[in-house]
Amino acid sequence: MTALPRLDTRVVDAARRILSDVEHCTDPVATARLLPREVYTSEDFWEFEKHAVFGREWLCVAHVGEVPEPGDQLPLTVLDEPVVLVRDLGGEVRVLSAVCQHRGHPLFDGVGGAPTGCVRGRRMVCPYHNWQYELDGRLVAAPSMTETVPVRTLRETVALPEVRSEIFHGLVFVTLDPEAPPLRAGLRKLDEELQTWGLDELVPMPWDLRTGLGWNWKLHHDNALEPYHTAYVHRGVHEAAPAKNARFGVFDDDDGVVMHPTYLRDKDSGLASADGKRTSPIIPGLTEEQRSRVLFASVPPLLFGIFQPTMVSLSILLPTAAGSLDLRRINLYPKSAVEADGFDEVYRIYQERKAVAIRQDAETTEALQRGMSSRFAPRGPLSWMEGNIPHLSTWLLRRYRRALEELT
Ligand code: FES
Ligand SMILES: [Fe+2]
Repeated sequence: MTALPRLDTRVVDAARRILSDVEHCTDPVATARLLPREVYTSEDFWEFEKHAVFGREWLCVAHVGEVPEPGDQLPLTVLDEPVVLVRDLGGEVRVLSAVCQHRGHPLFDGVGGAPTGCVRGRRMVCPYHNWQYELDGRLVAAPSMTETVPVRTLRETVALPEVRSEIFHGLVFVTLDPEAPPLRAGLRKLDEELQTWGLDELVPMPWDLRTGLGWNWKLHHDNALEPYHTAYVHRGVHEAAPAKNARFGVFDDDDGVVMHPTYLRDKDSGLASADGKRTSPIIPGLTEEQRSRVLFASVPPLLFGIFQPTMVSLSILLPTAAGSLDLRRINLYPKSAVEADGFDEVYRIYQERKAVAIRQDAETTEALQRGMSSRFAPRGPLSWMEGNIPHLSTWLLRRYRRALEELT
């Protein structure tokens, strides 16, 4: 699969102008400033980002547990590209383009509508003219074609294009850039952290999809990464992990993860634990330190993860424009928790409590997007609790600058 098309001059000029004033954006937090407001609001800048960031980076799209059995097919959309995550009959997981190679009908759309989750089958069948594909993407059948092209020839020449993918601790990443360096290169710190989590073994609950959310994808990360707001916006629902217990480390230039831990008031508890007690079995293998905190981690551009002693939440961002995105949220639990008596009730209560914080964050981030559209939008200064914001800016500016240099 090829990278995104070249950009038009208007978009490049806009990006250059918007990024002309980024002094102090990557400073230590005490003197750091926010990125210019138009990086969050300008449609031209969003076009630039599609090229500079989304067409180049590794994008987290799913967890392997979402295709647990051979024959499982999970249709997804990555930056307007219909793709499908497939586990073939031999158990191998791969990502294929889901655009039929006959006349381009998406395989999982059209008559009857798109499935809302994983489907299972030995083949993928195009609903338009019934061309059929193996789970590795090869064409196997195409009705009424022999008069023009023998099916044998079609079988030898037609296949769904494979999208470059890598699996990292059970997280499925794809890139649309054939030249992108291997994924792990930027994820050394996260790799170290995840050694004990058994993330690939955790069991995903059915995902929550929220569409048409009114904020920029970077504001989502900024808000999710800063605990400063939690004492005010989430008053009464975030006490298990008080903002003052957050700790910020060093961000190295080549880091591909922006993260910080916040230490829990009570070991083995979690964010939605109202009484400080744990609600389900902890994830086996965690260290004492990991059991005493929540880790908030962005793997830009698309993944935000919350790692708690009893569960992991993944939010997969699906940006649709400068000021809008959809969000796919997947909650993962250890098998021991899912199989324990009363888990359904534990999960229902968790979802209910968590919904409060999700709504508060949605109202906040939507309002923030409106604020960033103001001519009076500010550039900082920041609290120590916003230490990850200049880290994310560092990650972004490195990509923006690389693209601008190449476009010169
Ligand atoms: S477009 Fe898929 S079979 Fe014709
Ligand atoms: Fe929040």
